[in-house]
Amino acid sequence: MQKIRVAVFFGNVSPEHEVSCSSAEGIIQNINRSRFSVKEIYIDKKGRFLTGRNVLKSINCGEKNKLSQLNLNKLIHEIDVAFPVLHGQGGEDGAIQGFLQTLGIPFVGASVLASALCLDKTIFNQLMVVNKIFKPKFIILDNERQTADERIWISKEIKKLQLPLFVKPARAGSSVGISKVKHFIDLKKAILKAKNYDQKIIIEESVEDAIEIEVSVFGNTARDVKVSLPGRIIPGAEFYTYNDKYKDNKTRFELPARLSKRKIAEIRRVAKRAYLIANCQGLARVDFLLNKDKKVYLNEINTLPGFTSISMYPKLWRISGLSFRQLLTKLIHLALKRKT
Ligand SMILES: Nc1ncnc2c1ncn2[C@@H]1O[C@H](COP(=O)(O)OP(=O)(O)O)[C@@H](O)[C@H]1O
Ligand SMILES: [Mg+2]
Repeated sequence: MQKIRVAVFFGNVSPEHEVSCSSAEGIIQNINRSRFSVKEIYIDKKGRFLTGRNVLKSINCGEKNKLSQLNLNKLIHEIDVAFPVLHGQGGEDGAIQGFLQTLGIPFVGASVLASALCLDKTIFNQLMVVNKIFKPKFIILDNERQTADERIWISKEIKKLQLPLFVKPARAGSSVGISKVKHFIDLKKAILKAKNYDQKIIIEESVEDAIEIEVSVFGNTARDVKVSLPGRIIPGAEFYTYNDKYKDNKTRFELPARLSKRKIAEIRRVAKRAYLIANCQGLARVDFLLNKDKKVYLNEINTLPGFTSISMYPKLWRISGLSFRQLLTKLIHLALKRKT
């Protein structure tokens, strides 16, 4: 049987460069080599596309000079499908997806539209609210698109929000630029921090003592979408910060989350609805915050969640009966089956 030729894209000009390299490692190690051949394509921090033999190994050993510039004209004939495992802006926001679509290369994961709208917390939240999916109350700050009158109205509305608040850059990830604000006096500092990552900001009421729940989803259409069992994240810090996610090693996981059957069914139902409303295809991880009364708030959809061997996305599938290897095979087939 002819092997399917998969190009794994990783790295990229993004604060999540290193996370992307770890995710690529998870995929490269776990992909079924009897069915797929892998071409590794590294995008360095300057945005250069590099390739060669054992790319990830070369980078890890500081031997980037062994790599060569990617030849796009050749690439089109050398691969059957792309697996962009790039997080954050430029990778998860539809840019690379548009690039692959233009080249006529099928790819794993969400389309341009779903990628862009899920990465932008302002557009995403508005879309969910219109569809009556519960979100904590939020306000958007966008100096470039809001008039002086709107800004005056917004500053009054902010005062009506209930503390504590979360201040987030609209289009980032891995908790970068996010602060929890307990006093209005600290709000300005938090806004300035978020502005280091995006001029668009979201200010959102905190779901206090939240139970953080995540589910993994894959599928292209309402008929074939599947949702995993839920997992619970118990952050080591006050919330799930960048250090808590990747450095401190204090986060605990409850797999599957200990919730009633009814609650689990509700979470899976909302996850599927939100996934389809957001036009997702391929895969996504859908994240929730449950308040102390277990009311289910949707937090966000990650169209390119972490893919390291210890990441939630593959782990949730594992507890739902699908190995990492089987999962990758499924995702590649979904990419090849997708019509648009
Ligand atoms: N409204 C909220 N209430 C409680 N915790 C929140 C809220 N928003 C975010 N958090 C905390 O901050 C973390 C990161 O926020 P999130 O919106 O998921 O951003 P990112 O896209 O960077 O992961 C969440 O995992 C959660 O711990
Ligand atoms: Mg998150």
